[in-house]
Amino acid sequence: MVAFTTKYKPKCLADVVYPDTQTELDIMSYENAGRFNNIILYGTYGTGKTTIARLMPKAVVDDVDEDNEVDFINGSKVRGIQCIDDVEDFLHLTSWNKKGFKFVIIDEAEQLTKQAQFALKGVMDRFIDDAMFIFTTNHINDLYGGIQSRAEIYLLDPPPVERLVPLVKHVLKCEKLTMSDPQINQFTAKYGTSVRNLLMKLETLTINAKRKASQPPSTPNLSCNTTLNQPTPTSAAITSNPVSCNTTLNQPTPTSAATTSNPVSCNTTLNQSTPTSSKQAA
Ligand SMILES: Nc1ncnc2c1ncn2[C@@H]1O[C@H](COP(=O)(O)OP(=O)(O)OP(=O)(O)O)[C@@H](O)[C@H]1O
Ligand SMILES: [Mg+2]
Repeated sequence: MVAFTTKYKPKCLADVVYPDTQTELDIMSYENAGRFNNIILYGTYGTGKTTIARLMPKAVVDDVDEDNEVDFINGSKVRGIQCIDDVEDFLHLTSWNKKGFKFVIIDEAEQLTKQAQFALKGVMDRFIDDAMFIFTTNHINDLYGGIQSRAEIYLLDPPPVERLVPLVKHVLKCEKLTMSDPQINQFTAKYGTSVRNLLMKLETLTINAKRKASQPPSTPNLSCNTTLNQPTPTSAAITSNPVSCNTTLNQPTPTSAATTSNPVSCNTTLNQSTPTSSKQAA
């Protein structure tokens, strides 16, 4: 099974969930070379910094040759001054995309040595017209001020719940799972500390729901409204044998005959201590 962080990875800048409208507009303004600045993407883990960095060259110039006109450097692996010499050699090569642009992505840039960061300053100046440097970091304070002053800086914080909910709904739909809106909000608030974390929790939820759905019905159990839409059975079959999930997403004890008929519990990692429905629902 493909990891959800890969399966639901943004394919273009517009797919990214941004922390706020201004950041979204700022990042999107680079599309089709609407802007051409060096940028620094910083912030907490799993909020899309590397994803945006990798998508940016194609967004800026759609015919970029990503193998030959984009230099991706993992700053925590390649740290010293030699790396800057290599960057310079790369930038001297000809670019064949329609704008003649080149892109240097330095991921985890604060991991470059001080000497390397310092040397980069001059290289950024020399190639200012046709090279875009894209830095990502979790620790902006460890990035040399000379680099910071040559780039637009964007903070990638975890997006608020309302911005994450469409992504959660999209995943649930693709995975044929259903959850009520209050459950989705609750789930997203709990696990949306980063988009990466949210996708991993959705993956766990999905795996557990599908595993339980493939097991024979057991004795009646606590249930919630996270149901797996089975692909083949008719809706009548689904309602007579719903898959339920006693997670924090639990709702008050359901009253519908369909849900109480023969639920299959789904002990995902989302399980909390035995829920007291009214408290959970509150
Ligand atoms: N803002 C986002 N919008 C959509 N998907 C996201 C977003 N942020 C992260 N993801 C998902 O999480 C995965 C990991 O994201 P990414 O590696 O870009 O995070 P990061 O900010 O670089 O994390 P780190 O600080 O740990 O390096 C992506 O492949 C994608 O599936
Ligand atoms: Mg990263």
